[in-house]
Amino acid sequence: MTNSNMYEDDSSLLEQGDPLIDGRAFRRCLGQYPTGVSIITAQQGDKRVGMAVNSFAAVSLDPALVLWSIRCESASAATFIEASHFAISVLAADQVEVSQLFGSGHEDRFKLVQWLPDAAGAPLIKGAIAHLQCRLAKVYEGGDHWILVGQVEHYARFAGEPLVFSQGQYAVTQNHPQVAVGVQKGATSKPTLEDPLFTSLLTSTSQHMSRLFQAHRQALGVTMATSRVLSHLAQGAATIDSLEHDSLLGRGAIEDALNELKNQGFVQLNSGDYSLTESGLQKRQALTARAKEFTAEQLAGVSDADIAAASRVLQKLLGH
Ligand SMILES: Cc1cc2nc3c(=O)[nH]c(=O)nc-3n(C[C@H](O)[C@H](O)[C@H](O)COP(=O)(O)O)c2cc1C
Repeated sequence: MTNSNMYEDDSSLLEQGDPLIDGRAFRRCLGQYPTGVSIITAQQGDKRVGMAVNSFAAVSLDPALVLWSIRCESASAATFIEASHFAISVLAADQVEVSQLFGSGHEDRFKLVQWLPDAAGAPLIKGAIAHLQCRLAKVYEGGDHWILVGQVEHYARFAGEPLVFSQGQYAVTQNHPQVAVGVQKGATSKPTLEDPLFTSLLTSTSQHMSRLFQAHRQALGVTMATSRVLSHLAQGAATIDSLEHDSLLGRGAIEDALNELKNQGFVQLNSGDYSLTESGLQKRQALTARAKEFTAEQLAGVSDADIAAASRVLQKLLGH
């Protein structure tokens, strides 16, 4: 059995191969492992550097060690390696824009966010859910990256939920559906509106619907990322930067989605602007129609009055 035919009976296989042959596909495989997002900064003399990082990981509790890796070609690599310290800010769920700012190398990034200097002068981002002030302990070669190991000298943990980066897109954590006790399969008691389980029911419903719709998207040959790009471009032509800002997809996922849509003839590129072709517009319409049919199927047998009441309850809970 060769590496490539060992999965021939597995219909869930999306792609496989040698990581050196298709680097983008390899990145997508690594993206199956969700991470948080942090901003790592350093101050060395008058040089201040900072970037979005998802390679951050815990290493050791005693001594307290963490690591992250930086592309050798990064303009900031030399400063991070020369500086005696670096600071890590673990981003909160509402800090996507901070990640985008520090992921793009925007020259005004430190003017556009609130931060405070740590003991070594490295910026700590306000609103983050954790701060780690680190002394640079070791630098290792790691292929096209440097691996930086830091000894944590001070930490601070704040209230809030983490920002997640998973499968090339920003996400938030939610309780696992199995945590929603009253809505488990076979549960006999039904949650009522006053019951705390009502919120669990809302979460499970949204997750369940999204999982069910996934199959419909697949049937139309569309992924979550290509569907998001189609829906943004349906509102008008856009640059790759504006798509990145508005779609909450990472750069790699947007580039993959645009390539796929271009190859299928759904998207065209004109002097930096991406727009839908006629068949792209039809694809988007087919997707919207499928979403409507799907909703109608799910609600079959529920009276208009019940749907109106449920909608009023949901609007009220959203504070509308
Ligand atoms: C969510 C996210 C995670 C990232 N993780 C890393 C990382 O772990 N290491 C890295 O070198 N670059 C990472 N990047 C890319 C850098 O943030 C980006 O290249 C940097 O801002 C550009 O700065 P530079 O010009 O100094 O390289 C990440 C970007 C994003 C949006």
